[in-house]
Amino acid sequence: MSYETLQVRTEAGQVGVITLHRPKQLNALNDQLMDELGAALLAFEADDAIGCIVLTGSEKAFAAGADISAMSKFEFADVYQGDFITRNWETLRRIRKPVIAAVSGFALGGGCELAMLCDFIIAAENAKFGQPEIKIGIIPGAGGTQRLPRAIGKSKAMDMVLTARLVDAAEAERAGLVSRVVPLDKLMDEALAAAITICGMPRLAAMAAKEAVNRAFEATLADGVMFERRLFHSMFATADQKEGMDAFLAKREPVFRHR
Ligand code: CAA
Repeated sequence: MSYETLQVRTEAGQVGVITLHRPKQLNALNDQLMDELGAALLAFEADDAIGCIVLTGSEKAFAAGADISAMSKFEFADVYQGDFITRNWETLRRIRKPVIAAVSGFALGGGCELAMLCDFIIAAENAKFGQPEIKIGIIPGAGGTQRLPRAIGKSKAMDMVLTARLVDAAEAERAGLVSRVVPLDKLMDEALAAAITICGMPRLAAMAAKEAVNRAFEATLADGVMFERRLFHSMFATADQKEGMDAFLAKREPVFRHR
């Protein structure tokens, strides 16, 4: 399938790489891009060869937010009836394989929210994160007011959402928004290496681990722990659990079959 707003490729036969590509608009997220992104994600999700997905942008911008020129024409009736933002943003939440955001440059508004919808963020030193929607008379609309405080706490989230202050990669790492910061020219190498590491893990365990961590944001502690325990128990029904433990005890490399 070909896309106009994305570049899509496979690395090492097992990592799906999606590059947002609306360079003139700093990868502003319009409906076409989000529809294409959903289609590309679902294609990788359905492809048995793919074990992990990397989502990235350009050096200058991961994404500068929802497309303001498209939004500027909207009335309340358009966004409410059309369920603006939800419709084609939900796909990423449905992806069960791990998704890494490799962020360089601006990740603002919907761009920051898109990165937060990924499982973890690796940032280049030039990355800048922000929720500057208030400056154009709106508030974050793709989960920013909910995921940001969960990621970095109330005080810094309020600071970013109310003052529109951008935080750089170092501050984002200190605050826990990103997992690692690397030099710009190492960003894709680092993200691909992490993705290949994940691909080498038993896939069912990787999917279950992702599901369990995400549950932490939806459930009470007791419910989340019980959810984790049941998933943990289910791992003992997999061939890869037998193989992983046998290989460890035999002091040999495991050969996982993702079953
Ligand atoms: N939507 C549409 N176009 C955008 C855009 C956006 N979010 N961000 C940048 N662009 C366009 C600019 O209009 C400009 O187009 P032209 O060349 O045709 O004039 C082009 O991209 C380059 O941008 P700048 O000239 O502004 O580049 P800069 O380096 O001077 O500044 C920037 C970069 C700080 C990111 C600045 O472009 C900016 O502030 N962008 C808007 C950021 C923003 O407010 N994002 C939130 C959007 S609302 C949202 O996302 C809602 C939600 O929660 C889902």
